Amino acid sequence: MSSPQADDVVVITGASSGIGRATAVAAAGVGAHLVLAARGRTSLEEVAAECSAAGAASTLVVPTDVGDDGAVRALVHAALDRHGRIDAFVNSAGVVAYGRAEEVPAAVFDGVVRTNLLGSVNVARHVVPVLRRQDRGSLTLIGSVVGHIPVPGMTPYVLTKWGVQALARQLKLENADRRGVRISYVAPGGVDTPIYQQAANYDGYEGRPPPPTASPERVAGQILARLGPGLLPRPAQLLPTNQVIRFGAHALPFVYDAIIGPFFRYGAMDRTRPIEPHTGNVLESRQDGNALHGAQGNAAVGIVRNLLTHLRG
Ligand SMILES: NC(=O)c1ccc[n+]([C@@H]2O[C@H](COP(=O)([O-])OP(=O)(O)OC[C@H]3O[C@@H](n4cnc5c(N)ncnc54)[C@H](OP(=O)(O)O)[C@@H]3O)[C@@H](O)[C@H]2O)c1
Repeated sequence: MSSPQADDVVVITGASSGIGRATAVAAAGVGAHLVLAARGRTSLEEVAAECSAAGAASTLVVPTDVGDDGAVRALVHAALDRHGRIDAFVNSAGVVAYGRAEEVPAAVFDGVVRTNLLGSVNVARHVVPVLRRQDRGSLTLIGSVVGHIPVPGMTPYVLTKWGVQALARQLKLENADRRGVRISYVAPGGVDTPIYQQAANYDGYEGRPPPPTASPERVAGQILARLGPGLLPRPAQLLPTNQVIRFGAHALPFVYDAIIGPFFRYGAMDRTRPIEPHTGNVLESRQDGNALHGAQGNAAVGIVRNLLTHLRG
């Protein structure tokens, strides 16, 4: 199986926005049963309606905070009570905080770790036993290219994504004895989703996806294509440029460290939009900001605007 089949049961966290939302609609398009989870019910219900319109065999909305172990257990039970099995579980819940390591308040720092890293652990704790019992099915963890490199001003997020990479590797080892159980790990680069505007921010400027930027629909297709073994192993890095950046960071650290600061300042922040410090959606859902796409526009235009703003002082 290289993508969900009609009537497969697909559970998706972070399903109300960005990559999770695109994955839900794409899986709906092949007639899968969707179990949709995130913290906010209203935006999940919007996605459930989109999935029904796209051809989902059924939809079930289960508001869930992945940082809460009991809530994840209840989500898995809800899927099993309704369908009796889970064919694929995609953990796309995630949050970002911008700011230097010492400037991000403790509650926000911990909140990023709770959702991204401990949330992935909670999912693994409750999903892996189901897949092992079934002796089939897949769990997809979503990391990031920044789970393989350092970047300035995103320490909590970077730590969690390095952790997710390690968790995926551990789970692959621990489940190598079950041929039917697949642990999939993907590392997107910049993706045009609302996560940058939804982020907690102590940097002073809004973030934006660093170029080259992929669409959430493209990433969703890559995630679904990796649900099964396929003929050839597929790379975890979803953009070829991720490999170049990783090579630079590890083989040429002096060059990388000199370049990454300015690249991030002008390519991954919107320096035309100063903002006050805020907690974003890290501590609670901001459902009004959940959507399929982000709103930062073309990356090259953004870089030119940043440079012009810099030149004008
Ligand atoms: N966009 C990128 O450039 C990019 C790049 C690399 C990796 N990623 C990763 O891809 C994944 C999806 O990101 P995205 O860009 O699609 O973000 P997004 O558009 O902001 O969507 C995040 C989703 O996660 C949910 N969520 C947040 N905290 C949660 C929690 N504690 N429990 C359950 N659900 C929660 C949100 O809904 P509620 O707030 O209502 O809960 C929302 O549905 C994340 O793991 C992110 O780190 C993204």
